[in-house]
Amino acid sequence: MNHHNDQHFRGIILAGGSGSRLYPMTQAFSKQLQPVYDKPMIYYPLSTLMMAGLRDILIITTPHDRATFERVLGSGEQWGIRLSYAEQDQPRGIAEAFLVGREFIGDASVCLMLGDNLLYGKLDFLRTAVREHSHGATVFGYPVQDPERYGVVELANDGSVISLEEKPAHPRSNLAVPGIYLYDNDVVGIAETLEPSARGELEITDVHKRYLERGQLRVVPIGRGIAWLDTGTPESLLEAGTFIHAIEKRQGLKIACLEEIALTSGFITPEQYERTVRSMPSSDYRRYAEMFIPKS
Ligand code: DAU
Repeated sequence: MNHHNDQHFRGIILAGGSGSRLYPMTQAFSKQLQPVYDKPMIYYPLSTLMMAGLRDILIITTPHDRATFERVLGSGEQWGIRLSYAEQDQPRGIAEAFLVGREFIGDASVCLMLGDNLLYGKLDFLRTAVREHSHGATVFGYPVQDPERYGVVELANDGSVISLEEKPAHPRSNLAVPGIYLYDNDVVGIAETLEPSARGELEITDVHKRYLERGQLRVVPIGRGIAWLDTGTPESLLEAGTFIHAIEKRQGLKIACLEEIALTSGFITPEQYERTVRSMPSSDYRRYAEMFIPKS
């Protein structure tokens, strides 16, 4: 087994789509840049990939929003990571990310995260999955009350996968598949042979079915101790913001402060950290980040 797997993992954040369910907010700007309490939404998935140890990350946006994402996130150098950008001209499905990202992926393994998914909690399960991933696909299973809104997985008692369905009218289990997935390099070839579904999209669930047919799909159940939130509707967006606010206020610690994560992950030096923080405008965020400037 390869114990330096994170070196071979490249990250993709899919942040395109029409954002129609958040109309008219998305008339102003992209869904994945809408505020979740005190930060743009994409900070959260980006923080998750950074905490998983990934430093080479492709951001896929609509052609229209690309420049704004580049302005907000830049090259990633300030966080000791490398950000690249690519465009998906139409929302032809989540699995199109592997076609848009083909060159970026090269011969690496891929961790795909949806730009509107938010994971909070101890991310050891993710770091372990990245470390132990050698081939095939690894996805996660998270119990929810409304599985019909998601990809749903049914597991046998021994943990093996019985079935996978995208937004089933009659879910066979309450285990939804969150929008963070790990694949070996075969995912590009699989995506190339997918046919659009009835709703006209290249479905990520169809990718998982291919891996299942090959006997190469692992599902890692995660549950208590992790919050998985989605932000697809005005109400769930507000709830996510309220959740982040409640925890940040209680602890006095910020969730998804990218500079702090870069510092504690050793992606940047204390000197780089201090320079970045000193260049921030006066704000709550800056005052928070100043607490971690090493005392000299
Ligand atoms: O949130 C997890 C769920 O995400 C999974 O459980 C489902 O299996 C998966 O299909 C997906 O379901 P959604 O209905 O939430 O997918 P949606 O079409 O809303 O796309 C998710 C995000 O990906 C969305 O914020 C925009 C972006 N996207 C989507 C499509 C279809 C793109 O950037 N391009 C696309 O072509």
